Amino acid sequence: MPVQLNTEYLNSFISYEDYEKIKPSVSLAHDFLHKKTGLGSEFTGWVTLPTDCDREEFFRIQETASKISPKTDLFIVIGIGGSYLGARAVIELIKSRNYNDLPKATPNIYFAGNSISATDLNDLLKICEGKDISINVVSKSGTTLEPALAFRVFKRFLEEKYGQEEARKRIFCTTDRQNGKLKQLADEEGYETFVIPEDIGGRYSVLTAVGLLPIAVAGINVDELLLGAKLAQEDLACADLNQNDCYRYAAIRNILYGSKAKSIEILASYEPNFAMMSEWLKQLFGESEGKDNKGIFPASAIFSTDLHSMGQYIQSGTRNIFETIVYFEKPRNDILIEATDGDADGLDFLSGKTIAFVNKSAFLGTLKAHADGGVPNMVLKMPEITPFEVGYLIYFFEKACAISSYILGVNPFDQPGVEAYKKNMVTLLRQ
Ligand code: PA5
Repeated sequence: MPVQLNTEYLNSFISYEDYEKIKPSVSLAHDFLHKKTGLGSEFTGWVTLPTDCDREEFFRIQETASKISPKTDLFIVIGIGGSYLGARAVIELIKSRNYNDLPKATPNIYFAGNSISATDLNDLLKICEGKDISINVVSKSGTTLEPALAFRVFKRFLEEKYGQEEARKRIFCTTDRQNGKLKQLADEEGYETFVIPEDIGGRYSVLTAVGLLPIAVAGINVDELLLGAKLAQEDLACADLNQNDCYRYAAIRNILYGSKAKSIEILASYEPNFAMMSEWLKQLFGESEGKDNKGIFPASAIFSTDLHSMGQYIQSGTRNIFETIVYFEKPRNDILIEATDGDADGLDFLSGKTIAFVNKSAFLGTLKAHADGGVPNMVLKMPEITPFEVGYLIYFFEKACAISSYILGVNPFDQPGVEAYKKNMVTLLRQ
């Protein structure tokens, strides 16, 4: 299996009885999800998406990506939350967080409409000057203020640069099949549109056109991504807690939260390219579980970077945290450490070893140190970072999040709390 849960550094924190006690809740959660009897069951289309996805739409996404690429220097993806984070997370994890700066045959990709910062938007407009631009505006509701505002600005930019006719050919909309202002506008203007299925909510939508179009434009093999997710769909369908790492992970989170007072989960990785994946995970878990005055607070760290900042707190601060480390066994490319003349930095004892070997030692040393310091650790081990493995990981986390939310007793698929700020903002704007 491409993702394996290692609980070696957890054993002293959780007992056999803890597992036994939570088993009925896990099997109930499994039934809720698979029989569509749980809260929010109308948004569980993602469960069978890898096997049921619309093949025609999928091929059109690939075809469109290959048409966009040759005529585009900069591809601007406009969206927020679930209509933004997944695509960026996958591109940065598989390609690089430095994707735009690396030599490549695919367009640079920028993300807009994920804040209301005029400074940020202006910077991007400057970057666009003199470049060939295509746009993908993504919004399921078609009414979200941040992307709608950014789209206004970029639509005008494109129309002034290319004229209305050519601008139309460079704007791609991903939205609801029939509802919302964006769909209406797309139909009126004749933009090419892609569909966000009705039964898939924003934060579970990365494997739909929402994520797949930008990911394909970045030159990532989306067939492999979906195949990985398909294998996860098969592997993780088993109701038995002992045979399903995804369910074990969901169960352990709830044991740590419910009876061990661990209310913060730090999602950590030893790969800086994982940073946006952590942002996606924070949204997935935070928005799904944080309701009814309950929920684990999802935080994130990149090690060893953050061992030099947050490491102190993790080792010896308030003991209300646990860690989940996503560890990739093989780097894309390794670097050999060579001996130097005179050993001026005293590191010749490492010559003949590789940077990945040192990273692994940091990982193993930290696991033990943090566990000894009272922080339960779970490790999700993966062989390497390929589209196939990442597809598997995405599905693993989506399912873990839904099961974990059901164990907690909340609806994994709504987000009533995000409306409060919007209401206040609109009242202020209309004054
Ligand atoms: O997970 C969610 O539902 C949210 O994060 C939405 O994706 C986000 O608010 C953007 O919504 P929309 O796609 O309707 O613009």
